[in-house]
Amino acid sequence: MSSTQVRVIAIANPKGGCGKTTTTINLGAFLADMNKKVLLIDLDPQCNASIGLGIKPHLLDLSAYDLFNDTESQVSEVIYPTNLSNLSIVPAKASLADIESKIRTQKGGGLILKRKLEPIVLKYDYILLDCNPSLGVLTLNALVCSDGVIIPVQTQFYALRGLTQLLNLINTVRKKANPGLSMVRILATMYDVRTNLSRYIFEELQKNFKNRLFNAIIPVSTKLAEAPSGGLPINKYAPDSRGAIAYKQLAKEVISLEEK
Ligand SMILES: Nc1ncnc2c1ncn2[C@@H]1O[C@H](COP(=O)(O)OP(=O)(O)O)[C@@H](O)[C@H]1O
Ligand SMILES: [Mg+2]
Repeated sequence: MSSTQVRVIAIANPKGGCGKTTTTINLGAFLADMNKKVLLIDLDPQCNASIGLGIKPHLLDLSAYDLFNDTESQVSEVIYPTNLSNLSIVPAKASLADIESKIRTQKGGGLILKRKLEPIVLKYDYILLDCNPSLGVLTLNALVCSDGVIIPVQTQFYALRGLTQLLNLINTVRKKANPGLSMVRILATMYDVRTNLSRYIFEELQKNFKNRLFNAIIPVSTKLAEAPSGGLPINKYAPDSRGAIAYKQLAKEVISLEEK
């Protein structure tokens, strides 16, 4: 393993609806397709990543909630298979919402996920953490155990809102708790070629983030929005669609990050 291995990746942005979950599911699915062993962890009480992969959260017994709530629980007890080989998930249930207030003031409350993942981290090529739209203690847990962060940014108005706070938090975590948090990359999402606004925001991202911007650009795509309703990632739902091609390119870029 090289020292630059990017294994645990948080997909984070406090702005809701910018494509975090869509990115987590489809990046995970393409990495799994490329023969990487992938674990996805749903850290959002809205459970969209779980539902999008065909899981029915209300039918589950143990979930991410138990990982945070019960000090004795082990991650192996909350890992479920998906319909895709190589892709497993720690699903969320709505109850995960209670965790923020429970562990916020707890000593070491930001280190829970890191501790829980330690025994299994090397069993996977990639562990993707789908964060909720906040900078609360669940997102903190994700950043503390990650080697990298992917920040999906919608190429629409207000896209850059919340970004400074997230980048500040990443810097604080890097200084105080996780010097290994080395890779920070921006992913342009919901790009609409027909609008000047998309082009303008993308140019702003290029100016501000230069080599921290992925070459892959995720287009606005009805197919990407439809896929979760059937519990399928885009590589199964519409493998030839533009959205699929873009997420496949992203997966290749993520793999090449560790080969540098
Ligand atoms: N590239 C895209 N094109 C069209 N719709 C998208 C795209 N990416 C995400 N969506 C849709 O936009 C909404 C928000 O996306 P989501 O991935 O859930 O964002 P987040 O997890 O950041 O809240 C969802 O309904 C999703 O299906
Ligand atoms: Mg989401």
